[in-house]
Amino acid sequence: MNPAKIIIDTDPGQDDAVAILLALASPEDVEVLGITCVAGNVPLELTARNARIVCELAGFPQTKIFAGCDRPLGRTLVTAEHVHGKSGLDGPVLPEPTMPLQDTHAVDFIIDTLRAEPAGTVTLCPLGPLTNIAAALQKAPDIAERIKQIVLMGGAYFEVGNITPTAEFNIYVDPEAARIVFGAGAPLVVMPLDVTHKALVTTPRNDAFRALGNATGIAVAEMTDFFERFDLAKYGSEGAPLHDPCVTAYLIAPHLFSGRHINVEIECDSDLCRGMTVADWWGVTDRKPNALFIGDLDADHFFALLTDRLARLP
Ligand code: BDR
Ligand code: CA
Repeated sequence: MNPAKIIIDTDPGQDDAVAILLALASPEDVEVLGITCVAGNVPLELTARNARIVCELAGFPQTKIFAGCDRPLGRTLVTAEHVHGKSGLDGPVLPEPTMPLQDTHAVDFIIDTLRAEPAGTVTLCPLGPLTNIAAALQKAPDIAERIKQIVLMGGAYFEVGNITPTAEFNIYVDPEAARIVFGAGAPLVVMPLDVTHKALVTTPRNDAFRALGNATGIAVAEMTDFFERFDLAKYGSEGAPLHDPCVTAYLIAPHLFSGRHINVEIECDSDLCRGMTVADWWGVTDRKPNALFIGDLDADHFFALLTDRLARLP
């Protein structure tokens, strides 16, 4: 089978970085047409910098990287330096990037690519707030039916929230954008906290990254060392959750994941519950299903796949 053509929309972030590394290491499964950056974990200038650092670490300086929206559609940006550090990629010491950013705006790249490629062949992989994707759908509504699928990290049902008691960060930052994406009619696969909190980098798993001995494996282990302190302190969990790599792993090995095809709506208005993904997991409404909402993964095989693929990089 030909590799899936994907656009990664991202706000790196250590877990975004691992998701990108997994995709770049897997050319037989995915072809990365471009990486579009959005403001999220840290401001846009830093996410666009970090995406380039990650591509250079992977030995892929030819990757096309685009800067996109620097703030949510209608709100003030909320960032997550308390999780990811001041740079967004705290942990390893990595060189400043020298590869260029493309001139085109990320939103135009998404639109142009979906119009240029045959309909139903391009998958969007959002790993951050959904601002770029929603802005593209608003500017060019014709692209919705050309999207093969959107596989995104965001939301929660059983785990409820991480940035507020009822909201996951990516959805909370730009709920209006999320509402547009969830209502676009494109096939949607959602990796909520319910599954990503099961993708935990335990000490033996992180030791396995480090033991690869390549620069990538060591950098990933150091990113995790930094990133895990937040979840260890907050949840008492066994290690850092690799939220965003669930998206790229799903494209490579969908059989490792299971979920339900259900209706998911986004709460935008309530002060208490803004950004909540109201997921009809139990089928108690007659609202039409619009998403495959993932609930579980085979964590051991997920980490085996990831470690195996990271070993291929410099
Ligand atoms: C999501 O928010 C960010 O902090 C992570 O990169 C991930 O995309 C988890 O809530
Ligand atoms: Ca992210």
